Amino acid sequence: MKILVTGKNGQLGRSIQKLISNYDDHEFTLTDRGELDLSSPESISKYFDTHSHFDVIINCAAYTAVDRAEEEADLANRINHLAVKKLAEFANSQNAKLIHISTDYVYDGKNDLLYLESDNPNPINVYGKTKLLGEKAALEAMPNNAIIIRTSWVYSEFGNNFLKTMLKLGYEKNEINVVSDQIGSPTYASDLAKAILHILSNHNFNKKSFPTEIFHFSNMGETSWSDFAKEIFKLTNLNCKVTPIDSEQYPTPAIRPKNTTLSKEKITNHFRLQIPSWQQSLKECLNGII
Ligand SMILES: NC(=O)c1ccc[n+]([C@@H]2O[C@H](COP(=O)([O-])OP(=O)(O)OC[C@H]3O[C@@H](n4cnc5c(N)ncnc54)[C@H](OP(=O)(O)O)[C@@H]3O)[C@@H](O)[C@H]2O)c1
Repeated sequence: MKILVTGKNGQLGRSIQKLISNYDDHEFTLTDRGELDLSSPESISKYFDTHSHFDVIINCAAYTAVDRAEEEADLANRINHLAVKKLAEFANSQNAKLIHISTDYVYDGKNDLLYLESDNPNPINVYGKTKLLGEKAALEAMPNNAIIIRTSWVYSEFGNNFLKTMLKLGYEKNEINVVSDQIGSPTYASDLAKAILHILSNHNFNKKSFPTEIFHFSNMGETSWSDFAKEIFKLTNLNCKVTPIDSEQYPTPAIRPKNTTLSKEKITNHFRLQIPSWQQSLKECLNGII
Protein backbone atom coordinates (compact mmCIF):
# COMPACT_ATOMS: atom_id res chain seq x y z
CA MET A 1 0.00 0.00 0.00
CA LYS A 2 1.06 3.59 -0.59
CA ILE A 3 0.83 5.32 2.76
CA LEU A 4 1.08 9.03 3.58
CA VAL A 5 2.09 9.95 7.14
CA THR A 6 1.74 13.59 8.21
CA GLY A 7 3.66 15.13 11.13
CA LYS A 8 6.83 13.09 10.63
CA ASN A 9 8.80 15.03 13.25
CA GLY A 10 6.26 14.71 16.05
CA GLN A 11 6.35 12.04 18.77
CA LEU A 12 4.03 9.68 16.91
CA GLY A 13 5.46 10.48 13.48
CA ARG A 14 8.99 9.69 14.67
CA SER A 15 7.81 6.54 16.41
CA ILE A 16 6.26 5.34 13.14
CA GLN A 17 9.48 6.24 11.27
CA LYS A 18 11.44 4.12 13.76
CA LEU A 19 9.40 1.04 12.80
CA ILE A 20 8.70 1.27 9.07
CA SER A 21 11.85 -0.56 7.97
CA ASN A 22 10.06 -3.72 9.25
CA TYR A 23 7.16 -3.04 6.88
CA ASP A 24 8.79 -2.97 3.46
CA ASP A 25 5.65 -4.36 1.78
CA HIS A 26 4.28 -0.80 2.12
CA GLU A 27 5.61 2.39 0.52
CA PHE A 28 5.65 5.20 3.10
CA THR A 29 5.77 8.93 2.33
CA LEU A 30 6.36 11.00 5.45
CA THR A 31 5.77 14.74 5.42
CA ASP A 32 6.67 17.66 7.66
CA ARG A 33 5.04 21.06 7.73
CA GLY A 34 7.44 22.36 5.03
CA GLU A 35 6.08 19.81 2.54
CA LEU A 36 2.45 19.80 3.70
CA ASP A 37 1.41 22.73 5.88
CA LEU A 38 -1.90 21.81 7.46
CA SER A 39 -2.58 25.38 8.56
CA SER A 40 -2.85 26.38 4.90
CA PRO A 41 -5.67 25.08 2.65
CA GLU A 42 -3.57 26.15 -0.38
CA SER A 43 -0.62 24.05 0.77
CA ILE A 44 -2.89 21.01 1.25
CA SER A 45 -4.51 21.41 -2.18
CA LYS A 46 -1.13 21.94 -3.83
CA TYR A 47 0.33 18.86 -2.13
CA PHE A 48 -2.44 16.59 -3.36
CA ASP A 49 -2.41 18.15 -6.85
CA THR A 50 1.24 17.26 -7.21
CA HIS A 51 1.38 13.90 -5.44
CA SER A 52 -0.12 10.74 -6.78
CA HIS A 53 -2.60 8.38 -5.25
CA PHE A 54 -2.31 7.12 -1.66
CA ASP A 55 -4.11 4.07 -0.30
CA VAL A 56 -3.97 5.24 3.31
CA ILE A 57 -3.40 8.59 5.03
CA ILE A 58 -2.22 8.49 8.64
CA ASN A 59 -2.70 11.93 10.17
CA CYS A 60 -0.21 12.27 13.03
CA ALA A 61 0.13 16.04 12.68
CA ALA A 62 -1.81 18.30 15.02
CA TYR A 63 -1.70 21.54 16.93
CA THR A 64 -0.87 20.01 20.33
CA ALA A 65 0.04 23.03 22.51
CA VAL A 66 -2.96 22.70 24.85
CA ASP A 67 -2.36 25.94 26.81
CA ARG A 68 -1.28 28.07 23.84
CA ALA A 69 -4.41 26.97 21.95
CA GLU A 70 -6.48 29.13 24.32
CA GLU A 71 -4.85 32.16 22.62
CA GLU A 72 -4.37 30.66 19.16
CA ALA A 73 -7.83 29.20 18.65
CA ASP A 74 -7.92 30.09 14.97
CA LEU A 75 -4.61 28.38 14.18
CA ALA A 76 -5.54 25.34 16.30
CA ASN A 77 -8.87 25.14 14.45
CA ARG A 78 -7.22 25.33 11.05
CA ILE A 79 -4.85 22.45 11.84
CA ASN A 80 -7.03 20.24 14.06
CA HIS A 81 -10.34 20.76 12.27
CA LEU A 82 -10.26 22.36 8.81
CA ALA A 83 -7.17 20.46 7.64
CA VAL A 84 -8.69 17.17 8.83
CA LYS A 85 -11.80 17.97 6.78
CA LYS A 86 -9.62 18.52 3.70
CA LEU A 87 -7.55 15.37 4.29
CA ALA A 88 -10.73 13.31 4.71
CA GLU A 89 -12.32 14.82 1.59
CA PHE A 90 -9.17 14.06 -0.37
CA ALA A 91 -8.98 10.50 0.99
CA ASN A 92 -12.64 9.96 0.14
CA SER A 93 -12.24 11.26 -3.41
CA GLN A 94 -9.33 8.86 -3.96
CA ASN A 95 -10.98 5.86 -2.28
CA ALA A 96 -8.17 5.95 0.25
CA LYS A 97 -8.55 5.05 3.93
CA LEU A 98 -7.82 7.45 6.76
CA ILE A 99 -6.34 6.85 10.20
CA HIS A 100 -6.82 10.03 12.19
CA ILE A 101 -5.51 10.58 15.72
CA SER A 102 -7.62 12.39 18.28
CA THR A 103 -7.53 12.94 22.01
CA ASP A 104 -9.00 12.08 25.41
CA TYR A 105 -9.48 15.86 25.83
CA VAL A 106 -12.70 15.59 23.81
CA TYR A 107 -14.20 14.42 27.14
CA ASP A 108 -15.04 16.69 30.07
CA GLY A 109 -13.51 14.24 32.56
CA LYS A 110 -16.55 14.09 34.81
CA ASN A 111 -17.06 10.36 34.29
CA ASP A 112 -16.22 8.19 37.34
CA LEU A 113 -15.80 5.09 35.19
CA LEU A 114 -13.67 4.21 32.17
CA TYR A 115 -14.70 6.22 29.11
CA LEU A 116 -16.27 4.23 26.28
CA GLU A 117 -16.15 5.44 22.68
CA SER A 118 -19.96 5.78 22.83
CA ASP A 119 -19.80 8.28 25.73
CA ASN A 120 -20.72 11.85 24.90
CA PRO A 121 -17.78 14.13 24.20
CA ASN A 122 -17.89 17.54 25.86
CA PRO A 123 -14.50 19.27 25.54
CA ILE A 124 -13.64 21.90 28.15
CA ASN A 125 -10.71 23.60 26.41
CA VAL A 126 -9.96 25.02 22.95
CA TYR A 127 -7.61 22.18 21.98
CA GLY A 128 -10.28 19.57 22.81
CA LYS A 129 -12.95 21.55 20.98
CA THR A 130 -10.88 21.81 17.79
CA LYS A 131 -9.97 18.10 17.94
CA LEU A 132 -13.66 17.19 18.32
CA LEU A 133 -14.55 19.36 15.31
CA GLY A 134 -11.82 17.51 13.38
CA GLU A 135 -13.35 14.14 14.33
CA LYS A 136 -16.79 15.31 13.25
CA ALA A 137 -15.46 16.63 9.93
CA ALA A 138 -13.68 13.32 9.26
CA LEU A 139 -16.85 11.37 10.06
CA GLU A 140 -18.93 13.61 7.82
CA ALA A 141 -16.53 13.52 4.86
CA MET A 142 -15.89 9.79 5.32
CA PRO A 143 -18.87 7.85 6.66
CA ASN A 144 -16.85 4.82 5.56
CA ASN A 145 -13.21 3.80 5.57
CA ALA A 146 -11.79 6.01 8.32
CA ILE A 147 -10.76 5.19 11.85
CA ILE A 148 -10.35 7.79 14.54
CA ILE A 149 -8.11 6.85 17.43
CA ARG A 150 -8.47 8.86 20.65
CA THR A 151 -5.29 8.61 22.64
CA SER A 152 -4.05 10.23 25.87
CA TRP A 153 -0.96 11.46 27.77
CA VAL A 154 1.47 10.67 24.92
CA TYR A 155 5.18 10.45 25.77
CA SER A 156 8.23 9.07 24.00
CA GLU A 157 11.97 9.43 23.67
CA PHE A 158 11.27 12.23 21.13
CA GLY A 159 10.34 15.88 21.56
CA ASN A 160 8.98 17.44 24.73
CA ASN A 161 6.66 15.52 26.99
CA PHE A 162 5.87 14.88 30.66
CA LEU A 163 8.49 12.12 30.97
CA LYS A 164 11.27 14.34 29.60
CA THR A 165 10.18 17.24 31.85
CA MET A 166 10.20 14.99 34.94
CA LEU A 167 13.65 13.60 34.10
CA LYS A 168 15.02 17.14 33.79
CA LEU A 169 13.41 18.25 37.06
CA GLY A 170 14.44 15.04 38.78
CA TYR A 171 18.11 15.74 38.06
CA GLU A 172 17.83 19.41 39.10
CA LYS A 173 15.60 19.33 42.21
CA ASN A 174 15.10 17.41 45.44
CA GLU A 175 11.38 18.00 45.61
CA ILE A 176 8.62 18.94 43.14
CA ASN A 177 4.85 19.46 43.26
CA VAL A 178 2.79 17.45 40.76
CA VAL A 179 -0.96 17.45 40.15
CA SER A 180 -2.69 14.40 41.63
CA ASP A 181 -6.37 15.03 40.81
CA GLN A 182 -6.13 14.37 37.07
CA ILE A 183 -6.39 10.67 36.27
CA GLY A 184 -5.70 9.02 32.93
CA SER A 185 -3.61 6.49 31.04
CA PRO A 186 -0.18 7.33 29.68
CA THR A 187 0.57 6.27 26.09
CA TYR A 188 4.05 5.32 24.92
CA ALA A 189 4.02 6.69 21.34
CA SER A 190 5.93 3.63 20.17
CA ASP A 191 3.04 1.36 21.31
CA LEU A 192 0.55 3.52 19.42
CA ALA A 193 2.80 3.43 16.32
CA LYS A 194 2.98 -0.39 16.56
CA ALA A 195 -0.80 -0.57 16.94
CA ILE A 196 -1.32 1.60 13.83
CA LEU A 197 1.08 -0.53 11.77
CA HIS A 198 -0.65 -3.66 13.07
CA ILE A 199 -4.06 -2.24 12.07
CA LEU A 200 -2.79 -1.67 8.50
CA SER A 201 -2.53 -5.42 8.02
CA ASN A 202 -5.68 -6.39 9.94
CA HIS A 203 -8.49 -7.87 7.82
CA ASN A 204 -11.06 -5.53 9.39
CA PHE A 205 -9.08 -2.58 8.03
CA ASN A 206 -8.43 -4.23 4.68
CA LYS A 207 -12.08 -4.84 3.85
CA LYS A 208 -13.14 -3.00 0.70
CA SER A 209 -15.44 -0.87 2.82
CA PHE A 210 -16.16 -0.52 6.53
CA PRO A 211 -18.10 2.06 8.52
CA THR A 212 -16.00 4.82 10.06
CA GLU A 213 -15.49 4.21 13.77
CA ILE A 214 -13.88 5.78 16.80
CA PHE A 215 -11.47 3.76 18.96
CA HIS A 216 -9.50 4.46 22.14
CA PHE A 217 -5.83 3.65 22.53
CA SER A 218 -3.55 4.18 25.50
CA ASN A 219 -1.48 1.87 27.65
CA MET A 220 -3.37 -0.37 30.06
CA GLY A 221 -4.02 0.81 33.60
CA GLU A 222 -4.53 4.27 35.01
CA THR A 223 -2.62 6.73 37.12
CA SER A 224 -2.40 10.37 38.19
CA TRP A 225 0.31 12.75 36.98
CA SER A 226 1.91 12.65 40.47
CA ASP A 227 1.99 8.82 40.58
CA PHE A 228 3.33 8.81 37.02
CA ALA A 229 6.15 11.12 38.21
CA LYS A 230 6.83 8.88 41.24
CA GLU A 231 7.13 5.82 38.98
CA ILE A 232 9.59 7.70 36.71
CA PHE A 233 11.79 8.58 39.70
CA LYS A 234 11.55 5.05 41.12
CA LEU A 235 12.63 3.45 37.83
CA THR A 236 15.49 5.90 37.35
CA ASN A 237 16.60 5.92 41.02
CA LEU A 238 16.26 9.69 41.09
CA ASN A 239 16.04 11.04 44.59
CA CYS A 240 13.30 13.61 44.03
CA LYS A 241 10.31 13.78 46.36
CA VAL A 242 6.92 14.22 44.66
CA THR A 243 4.36 16.26 46.58
CA PRO A 244 0.83 15.68 45.23
CA ILE A 245 -1.16 18.89 44.68
CA ASP A 246 -4.61 19.78 43.32
CA SER A 247 -5.11 21.33 39.88
CA GLU A 248 -6.26 24.55 41.64
CA GLN A 249 -2.75 24.88 43.10
CA TYR A 250 -1.25 24.68 39.57
CA PRO A 251 -3.38 26.99 37.40
CA THR A 252 -2.91 26.71 33.64
CA PRO A 253 -4.48 28.73 30.79
CA ALA A 254 -6.40 25.63 29.62
CA ILE A 255 -8.55 23.66 32.06
CA ARG A 256 -7.81 19.91 32.00
CA PRO A 257 -10.42 17.17 32.43
CA LYS A 258 -10.19 15.31 35.77
CA ASN A 259 -10.66 11.70 34.66
CA THR A 260 -10.05 10.57 31.09
CA THR A 261 -9.20 6.93 31.62
CA LEU A 262 -10.08 5.21 28.35
CA SER A 263 -11.52 1.74 27.85
CA LYS A 264 -9.47 -0.09 25.23
CA GLU A 265 -11.78 -3.08 24.92
CA LYS A 266 -13.13 -2.04 21.51
CA ILE A 267 -9.75 -1.64 19.76
CA THR A 268 -8.23 -4.77 21.32
CA ASN A 269 -11.20 -6.92 20.23
CA HIS A 270 -11.71 -5.35 16.81
CA PHE A 271 -8.08 -5.49 15.70
CA ARG A 272 -6.84 -8.32 17.95
CA LEU A 273 -4.33 -6.08 19.69
CA GLN A 274 -2.41 -6.64 22.89
CA ILE A 275 -1.53 -3.49 24.81
CA PRO A 276 1.17 -3.42 27.51
CA SER A 277 0.60 -1.80 30.91
CA TRP A 278 1.76 1.80 31.29
CA GLN A 279 4.41 0.73 33.83
CA GLN A 280 5.89 -1.88 31.45
CA SER A 281 6.03 0.59 28.55
CA LEU A 282 7.48 3.35 30.72
CA LYS A 283 10.34 0.97 31.59
CA GLU A 284 10.88 0.20 27.89
CA CYS A 285 10.94 3.88 26.93
CA LEU A 286 13.36 4.72 29.78
CA ASN A 287 15.70 1.94 28.59
CA GLY A 288 15.94 3.82 25.29
CA ILE A 289 16.60 7.18 26.94
CA ILE A 290 19.06 6.52 29.78
N1 LIG B 1 0.91 14.63 23.07
C1 LIG B 1 -0.10 14.21 23.78
O1 LIG B 1 -0.05 14.11 25.01
C2 LIG B 1 -1.38 13.80 23.11
C3 LIG B 1 -2.47 13.43 23.90
C4 LIG B 1 -3.66 13.05 23.26
C5 LIG B 1 -3.73 13.03 21.87
N2 LIG B 1 -2.66 13.42 21.14
C6 LIG B 1 -2.79 13.40 19.67
O2 LIG B 1 -1.87 12.46 19.16
C7 LIG B 1 -1.40 12.89 17.87
C8 LIG B 1 0.11 12.87 17.84
O3 LIG B 1 0.58 13.74 18.86
P1 LIG B 1 2.13 13.94 19.16
O4 LIG B 1 2.30 13.85 20.63
O5 LIG B 1 2.95 13.06 18.26
O6 LIG B 1 2.26 15.46 18.73
P2 LIG B 1 3.57 16.35 18.55
O7 LIG B 1 4.77 15.63 19.03
O8 LIG B 1 3.24 17.69 19.09
O9 LIG B 1 3.68 16.42 16.96
C9 LIG B 1 2.74 17.12 16.22
C10 LIG B 1 3.25 17.19 14.80
O10 LIG B 1 2.33 18.02 14.07
C11 LIG B 1 3.10 18.85 13.25
N3 LIG B 1 2.41 20.07 12.89
C12 LIG B 1 2.01 21.08 13.71
N4 LIG B 1 1.49 22.09 12.97
C13 LIG B 1 1.55 21.67 11.68
C14 LIG B 1 1.18 22.26 10.45
N5 LIG B 1 0.67 23.49 10.38
N6 LIG B 1 1.38 21.55 9.31
C15 LIG B 1 1.93 20.34 9.34
N7 LIG B 1 2.32 19.73 10.48
C16 LIG B 1 2.13 20.40 11.62
C17 LIG B 1 4.33 19.19 14.06
O11 LIG B 1 5.32 19.68 13.22
P3 LIG B 1 6.67 20.37 13.78
O12 LIG B 1 7.52 19.22 14.21
O13 LIG B 1 7.18 21.10 12.61
O14 LIG B 1 6.23 21.25 14.92
C18 LIG B 1 4.64 17.83 14.68
O15 LIG B 1 5.41 17.06 13.79
C19 LIG B 1 -2.04 14.27 17.64
O16 LIG B 1 -3.20 14.11 16.88
C20 LIG B 1 -2.43 14.73 19.03
O17 LIG B 1 -3.53 15.61 19.01
C21 LIG B 1 -1.48 13.79 21.72
